[in-house]
Amino acid sequence: MKPVKVGICGLGTVGGGTFNVLKRNAEEIERRAGRQIIVEQIGTRHENPACDTKGTQLTADIFEVASNPEVDIVVELIGGYDVALQLVMTAIENGKHVVTANKALIAVHGNEIFEAAQKKNVMVAFEASVAGGIPIIKAIREGLASNRINWLAGIINGTGNFIMTEMREKGRDFNDVLKEAQALGYAEADPTFDVEGIDAAHKLTILASLAFGIPLQFEKAFTEGISKITREDVQYAEELGYRIKHLGISRHAENGIELRVHPTLIPRSALIANVNGVMNAVMVDGDAVGQTLYYGAGAGAEPTASAVVSDIIDVVRTLTADRDNRVPHLAFQPSALSDVPVLPISETESAYYLRMNAVEKPGVLAKVSSILGEEGINIEAIIQKETKEYQVPVIILTQRVLERKMDEAISRIEALDEINGQVTRIRVEHFTA
Ligand code: HSE
Repeated sequence: MKPVKVGICGLGTVGGGTFNVLKRNAEEIERRAGRQIIVEQIGTRHENPACDTKGTQLTADIFEVASNPEVDIVVELIGGYDVALQLVMTAIENGKHVVTANKALIAVHGNEIFEAAQKKNVMVAFEASVAGGIPIIKAIREGLASNRINWLAGIINGTGNFIMTEMREKGRDFNDVLKEAQALGYAEADPTFDVEGIDAAHKLTILASLAFGIPLQFEKAFTEGISKITREDVQYAEELGYRIKHLGISRHAENGIELRVHPTLIPRSALIANVNGVMNAVMVDGDAVGQTLYYGAGAGAEPTASAVVSDIIDVVRTLTADRDNRVPHLAFQPSALSDVPVLPISETESAYYLRMNAVEKPGVLAKVSSILGEEGINIEAIIQKETKEYQVPVIILTQRVLERKMDEAISRIEALDEINGQVTRIRVEHFTA
């Protein structure tokens, strides 16, 4: 059979890894795909010193790759929104299949991209867009296709997890760890995407669509970053038997879909609480399978290339299938996507960790607990830390309650004369049904 020709756009960390894996494993890949896969052309403005591109056509114009008649599959690894969207749409228009690692692009423009691809009978594969080397998209879309998914939760930003781990284990400074993650090629071009949870929200949006069969709705994701987590919170959480992780959580609740990224206290004994450094992990709970956990490197040149190249092989294997006989882009048939709403954060339910500074005098805790009681919030645990100051940190763990009830309780607590400053709130998850 004729070889399949690939055009790679972008030769940075992931592009370089993709080129090297395709080249190094060419023989094994051919045995798997049933055809030879060759890199026909690379669109890049800069050579990558990690790649020996001798003998491969290079161009500084990525659009040349998207319209090269020899290229069957365009691999978009430039990142970002606008140019990447133009490139992918041009490739589709030219009848080329697309493989991309671009989570921002898929989360924000995926609906229109898939519609265009469907019309042109081409595939858009995006395994590398979520959790780097972990084949989580394939697991949800194919491996768990028999299940009604109840919820999923994941550590899906390596940089954020790396920062939290280094801060907790080594007491390192936030900015110092972030610089290291940038140097290692883990961080986004704009690292606030990592730290403020935008990157995780992109990935969660994709996972939620695959799990629940809803259109991509990034704009409805609730996002809270890790930059306000203090060393004290990390320490109090440990004392209570929890660990703070930056999680993306999506749950099929009775009245809609929860879609939220925020720091979360999780029991220290949970496997996912022990996912450290740049590693990612995603838990998926299905009605038939129960809880499952997927773990691996969420970023980096070759782990991400592993997903990109596997997607290329997948595309090659199904080249002759028509669009109605392929695995649908969003796991469910496009005509069967559901309009179940994504819930605003105020309508989601969670347990909470609260930390507040209370004036050291009798009756303060009674006032706080009566506010919680009046709002229908059950207290699970309460600790008052010893101090010689005139104010004491009080930490309260609550049971599950609607976020809007907690908003109300927090504003009433903050209005008390005996409470100084704001109440810190961190959501708590136990991963039960
Ligand atoms: N910046 C991302 C991360 C890269 O740290 O996980 C992989 O998507």
